[in-house]
Amino acid sequence: MTDIGVIGGAGYVGLVTGVGLAALGHKVISMDLDQKRLAMLRSGKSAVYEDGLEPILVKLNEMEQISFTDDQSETVRNSDVLFIAVGTPSLSDGAADLSSVIAVAEHLRDEISKYTVIVVKSTVPVGTLNIVTDILSQKLTEGEDFDVVSNPEFLREGSGLIDFFAPSRIIVGSSSERANAVLREIYEPLLAGKTVVDVPWIDSTRDIPYVETDAVSAQLTKYAANAYLATRISFINEIAGISEKVGGNIGDIVEGLGLDPRIGPGYLQPGIGFGGPCLDKDLRALITVAGENSYDPVMFNGVLQRNELQLRVVMNKITDAVGLSLYQKRIALLGLAFKEGTNDVRHSLSIRLYRALRDQGASVVGHDMLAVEEVIELEPELEVSENLDAVLSGANIVVALNSESIYSEIDWAKVVSANGSPYVIDTRGILDHESLVSSGLSFDVLGAVS
Ligand code: UDX
Repeated sequence: MTDIGVIGGAGYVGLVTGVGLAALGHKVISMDLDQKRLAMLRSGKSAVYEDGLEPILVKLNEMEQISFTDDQSETVRNSDVLFIAVGTPSLSDGAADLSSVIAVAEHLRDEISKYTVIVVKSTVPVGTLNIVTDILSQKLTEGEDFDVVSNPEFLREGSGLIDFFAPSRIIVGSSSERANAVLREIYEPLLAGKTVVDVPWIDSTRDIPYVETDAVSAQLTKYAANAYLATRISFINEIAGISEKVGGNIGDIVEGLGLDPRIGPGYLQPGIGFGGPCLDKDLRALITVAGENSYDPVMFNGVLQRNELQLRVVMNKITDAVGLSLYQKRIALLGLAFKEGTNDVRHSLSIRLYRALRDQGASVVGHDMLAVEEVIELEPELEVSENLDAVLSGANIVVALNSESIYSEIDWAKVVSANGSPYVIDTRGILDHESLVSSGLSFDVLGAVS
């Protein structure tokens, strides 16, 4: 068992990491400055929606396996290992804002009094670990007082606990054998499939790949993973655009493509583009790092450009359907969070679509399963509800924006008899097309001729 501090412990990555490490049997202190979130977490509630998190959190709190504090000095004093999970948002030029990481490093420089391993979880550009090391070295000796390790996270929002307990891989970047040994000890229970509370995702029959490498490669692996995922989405969106022009059916194309084992079926759904806190931000940061190092990342610039265009593609479908004036047209947007299964509306392309429609005078209503409160906070003027029938009622246009399963179950004949005949735009190819056809509705499937 290791005494671990998580700095930024109430944020998404910090919370999942802290809970995960505590469930492995480590004693975790989660430190954060957000008092409101800390109070919620102490009572077993999480501000971010994460499937299965709260029951585990309640148990870990009861067992005193995890505690929450705003006191960084106490956290440093009582920890042998510190995970840094503070935010690194995009600056206006696309570079990552490292001010929180730097502030934490400056604090650690003044507080560390015994050998401590600093594990950087936050996604940070190559070079950041050197900055942290330089700051700490102003007062401390590397290898004796501290080591800095990169241990990137690959957590998907909404599925973060699955990704923690059944990771596709664990990557540790360090040149210190001493620190590597500490990290192996921390992850040992996970590799052995052992936890101190029941978690449904552990599969002790599976070997989890554990990769030790240098810090630069570890950090770049994380950026490469997100750049690849973003590229896949922009790729399939581009194919969908071509498919529409030449009369293809993107659903069949995706199936045929995914059957090639070198390509695989997952993560190939066309749509409004990639949103969320990571893909866009990390791609921009990678482009900036490349530029700073005299490298022209033409392909990644194209991936971003494709993503920006994709919003316009959906917008054009709407104006094609109603004509140029959107004034007072009732448009129902299904799926407002940046994807299904999350309540995260930051960087949601659905919200950007809403703003564009609102600015043209449309009367927009929105549906979401999990993010209603968050939408109200972000966009108080947007009429939003969890009641799908109410949102569909009287709509001139319905736009399905994510793959929430209840959208595929909509009985369109019922919609028609209750609410009139909306024009339906299916950006994800998930609606029941037979039901749409038999109800006599006109509809448009992104990437296919309908
Ligand atoms: C992503 C990475 O998956 C994760 O490994 C990393 O650590 C953080 O960034 P996340 O942002 O939570 O996770 O969401 P993800 O499920 O990857 O989806 C990102 C965006 O791509 C969403 O807007 C989603 O709707 C979109 N997407 C995803 C598609 O348009 N098509 C797909 O096939 C998959």
